[in-house]
Amino acid sequence: MPRPLSRVTERTAGRGADAWVLHARAKAAKARGEDVIVLSVGDPDMDTPAFVVDAAVAALRAGDTHYTENLGREPLREAIAARHARLSGEPVTAAHVAVASGAQNALYIAAHLLLEPGDHAVLVDPAYVTYPAVFGATGAAVSYAEQPAETGFRFDAERIRAAIRPETKVLAFANPNNPTGVTFTADDLAAIAALAEAHDLWVIADEVYGDLVFERPFVPAASVPALRPRLLSLGSFSKAFAMTGWRCGYMVAPPHVVEATGRLAVAMLYGLPGFIQEAALAALLGHGAVEAEMRAIYRRRRDLAVAALADVPRLSAEQPEAGMFMMLDVSATGLDGDRFAAALYEREKVSVLDGAAFSDLCRNHVRLSFAVHDDELLEGCARIRRFVAGLNAGPGDGNSPT
Ligand SMILES: Cc1ncc(COP(=O)(O)O)c(C=O)c1O
Repeated sequence: MPRPLSRVTERTAGRGADAWVLHARAKAAKARGEDVIVLSVGDPDMDTPAFVVDAAVAALRAGDTHYTENLGREPLREAIAARHARLSGEPVTAAHVAVASGAQNALYIAAHLLLEPGDHAVLVDPAYVTYPAVFGATGAAVSYAEQPAETGFRFDAERIRAAIRPETKVLAFANPNNPTGVTFTADDLAAIAALAEAHDLWVIADEVYGDLVFERPFVPAASVPALRPRLLSLGSFSKAFAMTGWRCGYMVAPPHVVEATGRLAVAMLYGLPGFIQEAALAALLGHGAVEAEMRAIYRRRRDLAVAALADVPRLSAEQPEAGMFMMLDVSATGLDGDRFAAALYEREKVSVLDGAAFSDLCRNHVRLSFAVHDDELLEGCARIRRFVAGLNAGPGDGNSPT
């Protein structure tokens, strides 16, 4: 028997892996042509805009198939810097930008640049599903600053302060949050800056849903000047440009951090494909038009889903302020998120994600995605209504899923 694998394999096991089993089943059934509605994942149903695809095809035809610069091509880094400067007011240049294989890869690099065994990181909870594995892989200890369900998972600086220890080096969060859609205000970010300065923390702000904030302008972390010297902002083309499969994201950080990123990027990435970078550059040169259209689509779907589920007895639909997901509190049905999701799929062939995949705080919630066409979303909501109506009256009276 060969010697065991490294402990990184255990540290990346993560929580909530089971929740994806149902999603995988639903996706496979849909692929077989079954009448299944998949509301369990945040992969936009829209095609990548044609002009973006055209840019990639043209680059490929022109022979753009070679190794590229590790931190990304200069024109793309410049365009990302210009966009970041426009949205946050932070005067950055290409030297502040590292391109990565999705925000996910940027997050992994960021965590490993900053953390090692003996360090401690605080993650705002609920946290995106991959965070436990990403931060766990560094070997650092991780604490979760719980933003409880009772307050709608709102930002609570006190809970973050309480999680900070002398060895804490990093505070990380997704803003807007996945799964809750909670989006920090300028005051929330000022409180984060005060904590970061007082405890000398690095801050990782995952802003992949920053273009999908509905009612008010998004406030990026970089708009708080005190945060800038200690901030790694992560962005992505996945959501706002419907480019999940292209795997293009980036980090904006102080130049010495970006320089160090280059060394890790050589070790693990070796440059993002050139034709993908050309497509990303074309997307940015659309100057906000695609993002505005996507924002309008998700806002309309959010409103449709909230209206369709608002008066379903024993279901509490929380209106998200951003993103492509809605949380449903299912506790009054007598089921937790896991059992609700399983029974809903068995009876109505609608897949949603158990909230526990993100956090124990969400164990009585399921997450529903708007990344499907309006008609499908409405049919999914109608099936959820019918499913809840068919359940017995209250908690503890036999709603066990079959
Ligand atoms: C909060 C959050 N961060 C990061 C990612 C990964 O984004 P990317 O596709 O850019 O790697 C996702 C994807 O769903 C996400 O929801």
